[in-house]
Amino acid sequence: MPQPAVLVDLRSDTVTKPSPAMRRVMATADVGDDVYQEDPTVNLLQEMVAAMLGKEAALFVPSGTMGNQLCLRTLTRAGDEVIVHEDAHVLHYEAGSAAALSGLQLRPLPGASGILDPGEVERAIRPPGEHFARTGAVELENTHNRCGGTILPLEQMEAVARLARAHGLAVHLDGARLWNAHIATGIPLQAYAATADSVSVCFSKGLGAPIGSALAGSAAFVEEARANRKRYGGAMRQVGILAAAAIYAVEHNLDRLAVDHQNAQVLAGHLRQVPGLEIVHPVQTNIVIVDVGSLGRTAAQVVAALKEEGVLCGVAAPTRVRFVTHLDVGPREVKAAAEVAELVLKGIAPAPRAV
Ligand SMILES: Cc1ncc(COP(=O)(O)O)c(C=O)c1O
Repeated sequence: MPQPAVLVDLRSDTVTKPSPAMRRVMATADVGDDVYQEDPTVNLLQEMVAAMLGKEAALFVPSGTMGNQLCLRTLTRAGDEVIVHEDAHVLHYEAGSAAALSGLQLRPLPGASGILDPGEVERAIRPPGEHFARTGAVELENTHNRCGGTILPLEQMEAVARLARAHGLAVHLDGARLWNAHIATGIPLQAYAATADSVSVCFSKGLGAPIGSALAGSAAFVEEARANRKRYGGAMRQVGILAAAAIYAVEHNLDRLAVDHQNAQVLAGHLRQVPGLEIVHPVQTNIVIVDVGSLGRTAAQVVAALKEEGVLCGVAAPTRVRFVTHLDVGPREVKAAAEVAELVLKGIAPAPRAV
């Protein structure tokens, strides 16, 4: 059976491909051995990211997962408990690595749209005593992937940070999409980052680089994280070719995240026309999650039906479907995909379309 030509791929903002201009800066990047800290492009990227986040230092790492895991590892010791939201990326999508690699126990707490309640966090802190894990850190995620790209309000992050500090706990911010929160709210990246001891950010999501993340914190923290990066096999050599893509991504693709957010609104507008369909979280950035259970369908069925019509999206949970807008899908493509999704979810066969 012939496969449909792909109309638009809304599975994730990680599916973007490096543009010709990005590839050019990669090809001509100045490089050196980064394990000797001699790669000028990596050094430049790290200085740039540290300055953008208002931290003393930053470290280039291959992935967001490694960024998060190095931060958790460096902030805690084996046997510690880390308080996280029940939908946190570190809990669901990092292959159990906090336990496997750092001996950490994650303590999930509920909270609407990724937001932890400071009172609940305080109640979850373990008392001293030989029976108890030591509560070592609190982890926040902004924007919140599993909660539909929602933005943690800065005041709430500050409240959790104040509480954590009062109890001697570290705070890690998974800022894989902190860029989206910053563009959507206008709140400076530094203000968000100031709530945390360590921050990780990704260049390979909405910013469109093919690979790469960074973590940031105090100089002493980053030195220790560098040693842990070596242990995790994440120390790389002439990696300026990748750092060049990340610099390009930050310089050219940050402000345009607003377009992705606008496209997500267009998509949500169409999905709202489907009677009974629930948009699970407020649509604030580039992610839209809908619950198709009330339509009597599973997420897998809807994803398959949309794929037949050339719209790719993902299963977020048994009855939840996720759409993500990004750099490689323009307003026209999103509008076309949104019209198809609306019809398919209403149970109407879309008319054949030219692609
Ligand atoms: C919130 C969040 N944190 C961390 C990551 C992990 O990034 P990577 O896929 O680069 O390991 C992701 C990936 O989607 C994410 O959404």
